[in-house]
Amino acid sequence: MALMRAVSQDAFGGPEVLRTVDLPRPEPLPTEVLVRVVSAGLNPVDVKTREGGGMAGVLGEPPFVLGWDVSGVVEEVGFGVHNLRPGDEVYGMPWFPRQAGAFAEYVTAPSRQFARKPRSVGHDEAAAVPLAALTAWQALVDAAGVRPGQRVLVHAAAGGVGHFAVQFAKHLGAHVIGTARSGKHEWLRGLGADELVDYTSARFEETVKDVDVVVDLVGDGHDATSTRSLDVLVPGGLLLAVPSGVSPELARRAEERGLRASAFLVEPDGAALARIAELIDDGRVRVEVEEVFPLERAGEAHKRLAEGRTRGKLVLRVG
Ligand SMILES: NC(=O)c1ccc[n+]([C@@H]2O[C@H](COP(=O)([O-])OP(=O)(O)OC[C@H]3O[C@@H](n4cnc5c(N)ncnc54)[C@H](OP(=O)(O)O)[C@@H]3O)[C@@H](O)[C@H]2O)c1
Repeated sequence: MALMRAVSQDAFGGPEVLRTVDLPRPEPLPTEVLVRVVSAGLNPVDVKTREGGGMAGVLGEPPFVLGWDVSGVVEEVGFGVHNLRPGDEVYGMPWFPRQAGAFAEYVTAPSRQFARKPRSVGHDEAAAVPLAALTAWQALVDAAGVRPGQRVLVHAAAGGVGHFAVQFAKHLGAHVIGTARSGKHEWLRGLGADELVDYTSARFEETVKDVDVVVDLVGDGHDATSTRSLDVLVPGGLLLAVPSGVSPELARRAEERGLRASAFLVEPDGAALARIAELIDDGRVRVEVEEVFPLERAGEAHKRLAEGRTRGKLVLRVG
């Protein structure tokens, strides 16, 4: 049986539970592709799931292999696959929220959960895109239907999801407001942010108003960010509470004020990734990778991400 290297865990816990092991290499079923993973993006959901939160309820008890963001090369196609061939460079966020096992040398998944990787960037940058960019895209385009001239507030604008949300909102013609520490403001202006608030020295609700859509990537777990966001919305405005969802209390407060508050969970979407790849290749959207770690140093990368200060994304180099 062919084996592959993977980062696995036998128990929930801190970064020390992550171990590099040899596991059987998967084989593609009909409609699936086997992808040789070159790079794998890291997301907060990996850290939360490792600890027993996040998608642990979906994955069940360890052992399991974390990771959803893949950029790599098609090695083999299963019966019936006609849109991809061996040798094609692809990227994707397969299976989410089920186990994808991206922190390994190979993954198998339905071919349509991948798209051709953007040509203008390498695998490290491409692996930084799927989960974060699909979140921003599905929030702004599918959930909110942002239109030109609308005002969009993005909390945690400098993070993995936030830096895509700023750029997509700008691309959709919105006036973009972001929250981030002042050291990141100049960079975010370069990505298209029109107004920025340093959340460490100002209360955003004191200066920001008339917002149509809030993409909240911080949540009520930190300084009641979702609840405070209701204060900045126009009547009928939409709050997308991305990390923590909408509590009954938040739902009640929103309804009382004629506002909409919604939970959100990203889904695999190869067609949206193909559109996002075009935007990257056209130079309209940039991918920020703060650091690339070798697969064996996954624990160190987890620790860094958990500090919550990343500019853009962290990536693991697998192949
Ligand atoms: N429901 C879903 O489908 C879904 C999908 C993707 C992500 N998420 C969740 O959304 C959250 C964000 O994900 P991510 O990948 O963007 O995380 P990330 O890359 O780790 O975010 C890091 C950024 O957060 C900023 N930040 C931290 N606290 C902040 C605050 N109070 N106000 C404003 N900015 C703050 C930091 O900027 P500064 O250094 O400037 O503070 C840093 O740049 C996570 O909780 C993640 O699990 C949910």
